[in-house]
This record gives sequence, structure tokens and C-alpha cells, in this order.
Amino acid sequence: MDKNPHSHPLVGIVMGSDSDWPVMRSCAEMLKNFGILYEAKVLSAHRTPDAALDYAACAQERGIKVLIGAAGGAAHLAGVLAAKSELPVLAVPMPSKHLQGLDSLLAMVQMPGGIPVATFAIGEAGAVNAALFSVAMLALNDRGLAKKLTEFRTNQSEKVLSKTLPDLP
Ligand code: RP5
Repeated sequence: MDKNPHSHPLVGIVMGSDSDWPVMRSCAEMLKNFGILYEAKVLSAHRTPDAALDYAACAQERGIKVLIGAAGGAAHLAGVLAAKSELPVLAVPMPSKHLQGLDSLLAMVQMPGGIPVATFAIGEAGAVNAALFSVAMLALNDRGLAKKLTEFRTNQSEKVLSKTLPDLP
């Protein structure tokens, strides 16, 4: 029997280091705004490979519906999660020290055919959009959530349309 979707995390946010949290907290905040329970963990594809694999392997039976993997540099975390889980895996490339996240982006987006990860923009935009994409997927089976997403989009549009630009002196 399906577990109550409101009593356990539906989204698992996994990041390669706690240094990724300042960016990924935007993802967590957006999920929280929509009332979606999530769990956020630090698990590294190279520093804690067994724990990362175990987490991915057990996520679905624990009731998780979406995995979000965030990592920087040689960023194979999302691919590793996807290797062990058939859940949708979203990848958020972290800004990196030497290549500003271009390395992370290319590592994530260039998954070989057969094991997909859906890769988002580098940094906070990607973190926020991974949350919104999760909302959109979960909203397919949750009318209340779909309504909240519509309201969010409407508010966002209204904010843009209400902007005014300063007159020239
Ligand atoms: C990656 O290495 C992490 O995801 C992080 O973006 C990057 C740097 O990690 P730290 O050296 O700050 O722990 O695995």
C-alpha cells in the first residue's frame, strides 16, 4: 500500500559536500514553500561511494519519488544515484572553484545513453528549478499541489508585469 505522501519525504536532495548547501538551500526552501517534505543529505560519489549507492538503492522503497543530485567539479554524483535507482534523477551543477561550474555541468549533462539524469542550470537557478520541476512531477498526481503551482506561476507573472522602469532624467 502506498504510504501517506504527507508523512514522509518525497524528494531526496543529495549533495557531494556541505560546501554545496549555500546553493542547495534554495532548492530546499522552494520545496518547503510548496509544503513538500524533503530530506537533504551529504553523500559523495567518491568520498562515500558505498553510502551513496545504498541511499539510491533504497530510496524508492522508502517512498521517495524524486532524487536531486548536486555536485561540483568531476560531478558524477547524479549519475551514480541514477545507476542505482529508477526514480527520476535531477542534477544540479555546483559552481566550482577553477571552472565556475562548467566542469560540473558537462560532467552531469553528458551522461551516456541508457541511464538518464535531467541536468539543470549551474548554481541557484538550477537549484530552484530542480525543486520546481519536482513540484511539477509530483503535481501530476496531486491536485492541491497543481493548484499551488498555478498560483506560484500566476504570482510570478504578475510581479513581472507590475515592474516599472525609471524615467530618463
Ligand atoms: C564535490 O566537490 C562537491 O559536490 C563540491 O561541490 C566539491 C568541493 O567539495 P569540498 O572540497 O568543498 O568538500 O564533490
